[in-house]
Amino acid sequence: MTTFEQTPDIRALYGSKWTTFAEDVLPMWIADMDFPSPPAIQRALIERAQSGMLGYTLDYPPLKEVVVARMQRLYGWDITPQDILLIPGMVVALNMVTRALGKAGEGVLMQTPVYGPFLTIPANNGLFAQAVDLVATATGQHTFAYHTDFDALERAITKQTRLFYLCSPHNPGGFIYSREELAQLAEICLRNHVTIVADEIHSDLILEGAHTPIATLSPEVAQQTITLIAPSKTYNMPGLACSVAIIQNAKLRQKVAQQVQAMGLHVNVAGLVAATAAYQEGDAWLSEVLTYLRGNRDFLVAFVSETLPEVKTTVPAATYLAWLDASALPTPDGQSVAQFLLEKARVAVNNGDFFRTHNAQSGRDGFIRINFACPRPRLEEGLTRIARAVKG
Ligand SMILES: Cc1ncc(COP(=O)(O)O)c(C=O)c1O
Repeated sequence: MTTFEQTPDIRALYGSKWTTFAEDVLPMWIADMDFPSPPAIQRALIERAQSGMLGYTLDYPPLKEVVVARMQRLYGWDITPQDILLIPGMVVALNMVTRALGKAGEGVLMQTPVYGPFLTIPANNGLFAQAVDLVATATGQHTFAYHTDFDALERAITKQTRLFYLCSPHNPGGFIYSREELAQLAEICLRNHVTIVADEIHSDLILEGAHTPIATLSPEVAQQTITLIAPSKTYNMPGLACSVAIIQNAKLRQKVAQQVQAMGLHVNVAGLVAATAAYQEGDAWLSEVLTYLRGNRDFLVAFVSETLPEVKTTVPAATYLAWLDASALPTPDGQSVAQFLLEKARVAVNNGDFFRTHNAQSGRDGFIRINFACPRPRLEEGLTRIARAVKG
């Protein structure tokens, strides 16, 4: 059994989660786990380093083969190595896909709140974001969940709408789209000639339920979908910047590949080697970490319900991110809850505004996102600091 309660001194290694704020601040923000990556990844990196061979590796068939086998095993999804492009990171991939498939002046549909860069990537590439709010409903006295307002989504589509960024499972909402919801989303996109860009980076971090890649719904959906996955969140290796685009439509794939090549982008050797080891040998570790994360999720939901009754929380079925409605907490004029907690609790959480306008710190927003991928005593310490600040 791996113990998830002993972690290295991440600050000494310049891990951004730990170095962005002052030393007395407990970081519970950016989506890194505090846990070391699985031993299989560490071994693969050591072995490769010891070979001394670190030259250009512009294609890496072993990674493509394990991805093909994995998609078959997890979802019965038939893809081929030719369907795969390797891209250095998800945000890079989202930018390249947008640049390749969209034109200046076109729109990108998305459901907010959502992972902040979704909001800015369209404009990076001359397009604009078309954000439609998810609808929150109470699921208990202290909990809430999101669902899609399909009519509102469809109403937001215009002649300019070219792409739909889907975050599945959803960050920060922590929910898994059901097959039925995905089918409805896909039907809307197909009927309106909107290409689906499915960011499925969180698809291995399933605490309850099952993930369906939207591209598996039908061959027609597959032809109009770009699926992006990565081992980076799953095995805690985002510093190695390796992501995988699965594009079964050859025309779309060529356009994206051209952009990636034009920018001179390729995944570095460490990322390729580590990703292959992760997908090949990381499953036992993943199952252990998911058990630990489930315990942390339950601890957080119980703590919020019992100790912070003014706050409402999601009960994430996926991801290690909880999304909290803390708008009932009184904060000084103009201050976001995240800023208040940074100053008074010395805990760094993500400000809700990051997921609506990509305004990282200053925007006044009553929501916060808490990363619970840390040793449980550390989670307890963070939540206790928050409760003390709120009561004070
Ligand atoms: C939905 C989503 N997409 C992309 C990323 C970032 O991926 P990368 O670091 O590979 O750019 C994250 C990181 O938290 C994320 O949550």
